[in-house]
Amino acid sequence: MSDGDGAPGRLSGRLVALGVTGSIAAYKAVELLRLLTAEGADVVVLLSASASRFVGALSFAALSRHPVETDVLELQADGRIGHIVVADSADAIVVAPATAHWLGAMANGLAADVVTAACLATSSPVVVAPAMDGDMWTHPATQANVARLRDAFAYAIVEPDTGSLASGQSGVGRLAELPRIVDAVVAAVAGRPIRQPDAGARPPLAIAPVREEDLGGRHVVVTAGGTREPIDPVRFIGNRSSGRMGVALAEAALGRGASVTLIAADVSVALPVDRARVVRVETADELRSALLETLFGSPPAPPVARFDALVMAAAVADFTPRAPAAGKLSRGEGLSLELRPTPDILAEVSRIARGAGGPGSPGDGVIPRPVLVGFAAETGSLDRAPDKLRRKGLDLLVANDVTEAGSGFGSDTNRVVILDAEGGREALPLLSKRAAADRILDRVAAALDARDAAGQTAAMQERNA
Ligand code: CTP
Repeated sequence: MSDGDGAPGRLSGRLVALGVTGSIAAYKAVELLRLLTAEGADVVVLLSASASRFVGALSFAALSRHPVETDVLELQADGRIGHIVVADSADAIVVAPATAHWLGAMANGLAADVVTAACLATSSPVVVAPAMDGDMWTHPATQANVARLRDAFAYAIVEPDTGSLASGQSGVGRLAELPRIVDAVVAAVAGRPIRQPDAGARPPLAIAPVREEDLGGRHVVVTAGGTREPIDPVRFIGNRSSGRMGVALAEAALGRGASVTLIAADVSVALPVDRARVVRVETADELRSALLETLFGSPPAPPVARFDALVMAAAVADFTPRAPAAGKLSRGEGLSLELRPTPDILAEVSRIARGAGGPGSPGDGVIPRPVLVGFAAETGSLDRAPDKLRRKGLDLLVANDVTEAGSGFGSDTNRVVILDAEGGREALPLLSKRAAADRILDRVAAALDARDAAGQTAAMQERNA
């Protein structure tokens, strides 16, 4: 062990993946993680959905210092596929506790959870420590699955102990004593070279590399989600936006030290209500009012900057029913809706901020000049994007093709192209929405720094004149 005597642990330099599945014994995996770490292992945890109902990912993340893999479909912040990174870099995978259900899924190669997916994808040794009720353990199905894992897959099985079980009965099925599981991992890796000594090829650290607070002291306003335009008190015209991209932008801006106002229409993700000023809206008109008040005050104030950047990720309805019905419409003979176009909110903000007119526009616009970022969800081609950027008077336009796999509404990933007012075009690879958000904010931070540097130079020239 790597304790006070300074002797290297038996797993020193190894990466061990700890797969935890949904047994009552899942809490013991926290202690197992500690024991593996005490042997010098770098441990990354894979948590099945049912296991996360017994033990939260946070304990594992805090102790392992790696993000916990919980979802086969989720990408890491840097865009890599989490369970594949684990499968390719771990020296061993230890599944403890392994439930009867998990043994069945693994025996049949059903990779619906991160633990089976990583085991299927790895060429490293796998150690399995089952835990369950005594009758489940002795059932022929379980025994057949265990035999398959041991004989056909060459997995090391750490047989459960006999003792009192969660049901109150006594029998065989208790998770093996933890030192026995650690010994099995040590035996499994013995004589093998360390697979991936390069930390860069291993799973990332949970404590994300400390980002410079390059938006510290900035007020970033983000809009997110889809607006809902009422047809009657029950029905509305909506869209497929989940708000994921906008919320990722707000989270990323908070992480970089900005003070954030998030104006959220309909979203299907949690909002950072404790760290940002969050304003909830429903319709395009409500979004417009909330945004104009946040950006320019009410009534619109003199040209004092109340915000540094606006990132307009909301999917704003382009049309709204001209006269929503006061009472619920009945099916009757059918329905024809008369729609009116909604105001182009972003274009209006741009006109006011740039001093080019608009209601209450301060003549010279807002000083210092805020950075305006629009989004364009296109289908099939991004040809219309440069014109949209010009028409709306934006600094940056983030365009994506929502028909592309992995880039649509509700997905956790996005492939975007960032266009700028100088005609530049930066095509980003498929990234998690959080990683894409940070790349967008890299551009915002750089634009704000350039703005301030230009302002200082102008002020100096004025003083010297
Ligand atoms: N937007 C807005 N107000 C609207 C519609 C859109 O502020 N009434 C904003 C969106 O939040 C987005 C940008 O404008 O940041 C581009 O939205 P998009 O729907 O692609 O552009 P439209 O102006 O609606 O152009 P078109 O309908 O021709 O695609």
